[in-house]
Amino acid sequence: MTSLIVRVPEGKSPKLAQEQLPLPRPGAGQVLVKVSHVAQNPTDVQCFDINAFGDGAVLGCDFVGEVTELGSGVTRLAKGDVIAGLIWGGEIPGLGAYSEYTIADERISFKVPAANISKAQASTVPLAAATAWLALFSKECLNIGRSQAQGTSVLVWGGSSSVGLYTIQLASLLGFEVVTTCSPRNADLVRSHGAKRVFDYNDADVIDRITGVAPHLQYIFDTIGSANSSTIASRALGGRVGHLCTVRPGKANTEHVAPNTHVTDVLVWTAFLKDHSYGTFHWPASKEDHELVSELFESLPAWLEQGRIQPNQTKLFHGLESVAQGFQEYRDGKISAYKIVYEV
Ligand SMILES: NC(=O)c1ccc[n+]([C@@H]2O[C@H](COP(=O)([O-])OP(=O)(O)OC[C@H]3O[C@@H](n4cnc5c(N)ncnc54)[C@H](OP(=O)(O)O)[C@@H]3O)[C@@H](O)[C@H]2O)c1
Repeated sequence: MTSLIVRVPEGKSPKLAQEQLPLPRPGAGQVLVKVSHVAQNPTDVQCFDINAFGDGAVLGCDFVGEVTELGSGVTRLAKGDVIAGLIWGGEIPGLGAYSEYTIADERISFKVPAANISKAQASTVPLAAATAWLALFSKECLNIGRSQAQGTSVLVWGGSSSVGLYTIQLASLLGFEVVTTCSPRNADLVRSHGAKRVFDYNDADVIDRITGVAPHLQYIFDTIGSANSSTIASRALGGRVGHLCTVRPGKANTEHVAPNTHVTDVLVWTAFLKDHSYGTFHWPASKEDHELVSELFESLPAWLEQGRIQPNQTKLFHGLESVAQGFQEYRDGKISAYKIVYEV
């Protein structure tokens, strides 16, 4: 198969090169997938730029493709199914989504519905939707009771990010009142996804405006995790005891949150039933998170087909040779309420 491989020449910065690799074999509960579309995530670029996985890594986490081979014990999928799936591209040398073929876990993937969603759009769903779902409902994150939705507000900081757009929709679908922040140009989009109140994060009075509409706020998901986003967002708790989950692993950039803010972080890789390490961080396997994401992925086909969850807007690039250009678009800070998708 042709894969886009990270090559790290001695003493030089990493490069991307198309090379041939042997086809991977699916293990128990896994399937081999012929990839048609890959969605770009910030982690792809971040991992490339810091050379997180070294020479020989294949990056890429979000993909859509056709199942061509089944591992042992697979019951949910069959050969010929078109699925959207999630993999931690790079964690296992030679395995990632920027490739002609990749491996999917049958429980951390879902069949792409025939109506209402294109393959390119479907590739934007797995990573960001799983992150949103875990941040809201994992015991290690906000741990919000799904039965308490009525009258409960959730502040989604960064509602127009890919993760933010899925968080708004999943929380709204379950009946939570979503308050969010984004640039004014994206306000209509986030409202159309279910946000009840929308504010500009660059407005000097943004916190007063949020506390005005959500005076009893207890839950915040910071989908940005920038130097000051958690600090600012935490002030919306008004000094009360509350919960803030950040997308930054290791709770980075939360040192200065408001007193009484209980901080957690989300790591989407807890969707897989295995231990994970990244730099100095270690996350043990979590059966609960695995079950939670598996449950989400069982629900997604119907929600997408019925239009209850809208996929991200896409910007389509053609071929693995265009990945370097897409990575640069992220570094240049141009991405706003859309996701880059590559047709492989
Ligand atoms: N820990 C995990 O497991 C995990 C999983 C997924 C993602 N992440 C991380 O989560 C972050 C978001 O990922 P993504 O794919 O959703 O990103 P993305 O779609 O590329 O984010 C772009 C959006 O960020 C918004 N934004 C930028 N600065 C902001 C600020 N200060 N306040 C509010 N919004 C701001 C922009 O909004 P406007 O254009 O409206 O201004 C833009 O729409 C990334 O850092 C990623 O690495 C972590």
